[in-house]
Amino acid sequence: MELKNVEKHYEMGEHKIKALSGINLKIKKGEFISILGPSGSGKSTLLHLLGLLDKPSRGKIYIQGEEVTKLSSEDIAEKRNKDIGIVFQFFFLSSFLTAEENIQLPMLFGEITEEERTKRSKELLETMGLSKRSNNKPAQLSGGERQRVAIARALATKPVIILADEPTGNLDSKIGDEIVKIFKKLHKEGNTIVMVTHDEKLAKHSERIIYLMDGKIERMVKRK
Ligand SMILES: Nc1ncnc2c1ncn2[C@@H]1O[C@H](COP(=O)(O)OP(=O)(O)O)[C@@H](O)[C@H]1O
Ligand SMILES: [Mg+2]
Repeated sequence: MELKNVEKHYEMGEHKIKALSGINLKIKKGEFISILGPSGSGKSTLLHLLGLLDKPSRGKIYIQGEEVTKLSSEDIAEKRNKDIGIVFQFFFLSSFLTAEENIQLPMLFGEITEEERTKRSKELLETMGLSKRSNNKPAQLSGGERQRVAIARALATKPVIILADEPTGNLDSKIGDEIVKIFKKLHKEGNTIVMVTHDEKLAKHSERIIYLMDGKIERMVKRK
């Protein structure tokens, strides 16, 4: 993934908020990077651009060599569904659906048979240690379990790029460590991971830390 001179503004009445400016960033295939910065520094905005949930105001974004800022919204939606898995800070699970049904949700949009959907969701429930919770709705799960369901859902379509916005933000530190372990395992399996966090300790598990400040990359630190 590559961002070239990316800017993102939000119009708020007469005010223009510069959420990101002058972002130049290359993320290699299979890399595990963290984006670290205080609240309001532009972390979520950057992750949403990488996740094709939003478009930059200026600049270009390339994913797997393709300039996505040129694609139609239909092609963008297809690419997002096929290649990218996103884990949000506040989970965004459907409260009406069970853990298993939540995990199956992204698979309803592809050409996946019901048999495959069931098999894949069972596998993911097991990997996440949630087999006994498959019929629980989110309200009947702990915070850590909910986040693991959200991760399983993000992985349902076997995306090669996994983006996570403060995936441990609402969890205590012990569960936070468990969640990071899951990302480390996914990285070992060859996936590209971008994890947004404001916790320096968690960021140290990744290969490279991007420090964001006031919408700009302040510095990068390579760790491995
Ligand atoms: N949809 C939006 N409309 C207007 N301003 C926004 C919107 N989203 C984010 N912002 C502003 O952009 C800046 C960066 O926000 P964000 O990317 O959410 O930061 P972070 O995730 O690091 O806390 C903040 O000043 C925030 O208030
Ligand atoms: Mg944020």
